[in-house]
Amino acid sequence: MAIILRTNKLLYSIRWQFAVIYLILVGIVFGLVSVAVSSLVEDYLVNQRVSALTKAANSTAVQVAPYLSDDDAGTIYDIVVNNGNDSGGRFLVLNSSGIVVVDSFSDLNGVKLSDREVNDILYGRNSSSYGFHSISDPSGDFWAVYCTSSIVHNGQIIGAVLYSSSIQDVVNATGMLQERTLAIFLLACGIIIIISLFTTNLITKPIKKLTDVAIKISNGDLSQRANIRGKGEVAELAQTFDMMCGRIQNMDQQRSEFVSDASHELKTPLASMKILVESMLYQDNVPEEVYKEFLGDINGEIDRMNSLITDLLLLSKMDSDIVTINLEKVRISSIVNKCVNALEPIARERNIRVRTDLSDDFELECDPLKLRQAINNLIENAIKYTGDGGHVFVTTKHHGGEGAVRIEDNGVGMSPEHLEHIFERFYRVDKARSRETGGTGLGLHIVRRIALMHGGRVDVESQEGKGSVFTLVVPLVQHTEDIL
Ligand SMILES: Nc1ncnc2c1ncn2[C@@H]1O[C@H](COP(=O)(O)OP(=O)(O)OP(=O)(O)O)[C@@H](O)[C@H]1O
Ligand SMILES: [Mg+2]
Repeated sequence: MAIILRTNKLLYSIRWQFAVIYLILVGIVFGLVSVAVSSLVEDYLVNQRVSALTKAANSTAVQVAPYLSDDDAGTIYDIVVNNGNDSGGRFLVLNSSGIVVVDSFSDLNGVKLSDREVNDILYGRNSSSYGFHSISDPSGDFWAVYCTSSIVHNGQIIGAVLYSSSIQDVVNATGMLQERTLAIFLLACGIIIIISLFTTNLITKPIKKLTDVAIKISNGDLSQRANIRGKGEVAELAQTFDMMCGRIQNMDQQRSEFVSDASHELKTPLASMKILVESMLYQDNVPEEVYKEFLGDINGEIDRMNSLITDLLLLSKMDSDIVTINLEKVRISSIVNKCVNALEPIARERNIRVRTDLSDDFELECDPLKLRQAINNLIENAIKYTGDGGHVFVTTKHHGGEGAVRIEDNGVGMSPEHLEHIFERFYRVDKARSRETGGTGLGLHIVRRIALMHGGRVDVESQEGKGSVFTLVVPLVQHTEDIL
């Protein structure tokens, strides 16, 4: 239960881990893309503005050049005011010492400027230059660009034009772009969290279902199944899990049937013994012969219980795979002869003739003790279910890598409806008769288990009142994959 609770907790944290991982990944990609896009846009807009201003400064420098050499400040003023009105900026015309000759705002006339952009022209001998400045103004702070251009007359730099213009609109536009990008990013984060929770929920849903089924099964309800269809690792896991549950349920059912059948079978001889013992105990003056008869019956019941317990122990060993198969190469005739010799006295007692034809003798790889037990059970049945004076015929044959032992009798036989059940545990066709003969209904089940252990089978043909033929078929050579 603790493991299951831990699994549920784990699924919950997996869901959030997925969401966070998605978020981090998308955040990194989104951040990089938005920084690249906004800086590209900003560069583009600023470059456009700078090139327009530089062009205006160049053309103004060409226009004012002849008037600067003539010190005609009035005409220069008209030109720069006119150009300044056209482009909406501020023009300053400086002489070669950096002193403002004309300011279109008439503010800095006579002031010496030593900004980098001016020095680039006057001392750096550049034809144009530009730079950005943060301007503090009573109306508010803003960013401006200074573009300078050389004023050339007769091949000499006689001054410079400085054109300044606000680029706050560009700065505002890129700021707005970044704000919008951030808003879109936050929106995208929200959508990603919802989508990732939804998708991880889809992935973890079958695992959750499996966990729920596992809880119910661990609480004892073996009929539960996950029933997850489809493909993929989780579906395959669920299908294998269902198969495993089916097998466990089947085994559990078989186990409980076995226990109830076995208890029932063990109770029957005990009940008989109790009746016999009580009859002797509570009756006065019981003749000695009756005592002897009752004790003989009790002895018979003890034998029956003994053989039942022996068979049950063998089957339980087989079920728990304790029984190992000890392979040896043996001739089939030696096994069959041992069985027939051991059962001959019982057959003789009932005047039943057991004949054999072992002319097709062959060597096979098997566990001799187990194979002997199987053949013994079949011959014993043939004798047991054949009337006095009947006959049993045992033959051997081999063909195509398989060896067969055929046991034929002319006994009571069976009707077809019984044939499919006789290999089941405790199945007996005629319970009363089997009780008389001490049968428990485990013999043929053991025969079939031994045959399967060797990768073989048992076939049966029978006709009621006429007799039966049981054929045990096993491979001559054992392959490990045939052995159960
Ligand atoms: N050769 C046969 N002829 C007729 N009926 C048979 C023959 N062999 C088996 N049967 C029927 O099949 C039933 C099952 O046989 P199985 O050997 O499993 O049990 P059993 O002989 O009753 O008891 P035991 O466990 O002692 O062998 C028998 O009770 C009998 O009714
Ligand atoms: Mg039997």
